[in-house]
Amino acid sequence: MKSYRVGVLGGDGIGPEVTAEGVKALQAAAKKFGFGLTLIDYPYGAEHALKTKELIPDSAFAEMKTLDAILLGAIGDPRFETGYLEFGIVGRLRFDLDLYVNLRPIKLYAEHLCPLKGKKVEDLQMVVVRENTEDAYRGQTRIDKKGTPDETAIQEMLYTRKGTERIIRYAFELARSRPRKKLTLVDKANAVRAHDLYRRVFAEVGREYPDIATDFAFVDACCMWMIKNPESFDTIVTTNMFGDIITDLGAVLQGGLGIAAGGNIHPGRVSVFEPIHGSAPKYKGQRKANPLAAILAGGMLLDHVGEKAAGAAVEAAVIRLLTSGRITSIGTDSGIATDAIGDMAAAEIAR
Ligand code: IPM
Ligand code: MN
Repeated sequence: MKSYRVGVLGGDGIGPEVTAEGVKALQAAAKKFGFGLTLIDYPYGAEHALKTKELIPDSAFAEMKTLDAILLGAIGDPRFETGYLEFGIVGRLRFDLDLYVNLRPIKLYAEHLCPLKGKKVEDLQMVVVRENTEDAYRGQTRIDKKGTPDETAIQEMLYTRKGTERIIRYAFELARSRPRKKLTLVDKANAVRAHDLYRRVFAEVGREYPDIATDFAFVDACCMWMIKNPESFDTIVTTNMFGDIITDLGAVLQGGLGIAAGGNIHPGRVSVFEPIHGSAPKYKGQRKANPLAAILAGGMLLDHVGEKAAGAAVEAAVIRLLTSGRITSIGTDSGIATDAIGDMAAAEIAR
């Protein structure tokens, strides 16, 4: 029997609650599809950092590198300076595991969830390939004359040819594996002159993919088109920060952050799957958070390790719960407790 070693890092706020339901889905899928799972729980996040002053100890990080995949909840806590935990934990995983792809599907699972008028399930079936290791997230910060009227704050946006080429190549391959064979480059080359690198590399790599139709959108126009004509998009490739922004917009088109999942991927290596929502500290422990995004992240994790049928079954189970009306809302107002939704999903996967 095949078996996988999966790390579980629930993190902060609602992270542990939703991740526990993602784990239930993994276990239900393992039973149904006949593979083994060894789960390794990691306690890292705000509480651990307060108690021990450590974020991810090097020994744990070394162990994580040997795993098949990691399911991550959410990181972020108001008791810390903004960005400290995020960069120390999420950033550490993304950058030090070189997870250069942030794969974020934007799919409408049930028509009633979409806030746009008259859009059908088939109108919202795109996937965003967000570069995940460069951009403003990796550039230098420089703040001079802090606190004075002459203060200046500089944040570099750093792009390398290698980093740009590998994400664009990944996106072309993904576009090729999908029926529509269409790839859109989203950038801001008209204002951020460094995005000229994306334009040139996109054209160069594109020559190797004559079967893929390509086009471009500036990120501002992309936001407009995603609302007006989401059906015009299939695969999108974009920079780290623009990918961050447009996928929150995309999540709302899917019905809300409670259903949007993503993978931080290095093909063939340990990769990290997560709901794209944050830690929502005010809902912590209330059993109100919707775990569907964490469950779908589990489905993506299974797909990544090679359990394609199991991954598809997790997604299909979520779709059935939504389209049958058993779960009518994916917000905190669904009226169904976090763990009850997890039980429903696990039962549906087992069916
Ligand atoms: C995300 C988050 C992170 C990001 C934060 C927590 C640093 O918003 O995963 O989308 O900006 O990438
Ligand atoms: Mn984000």
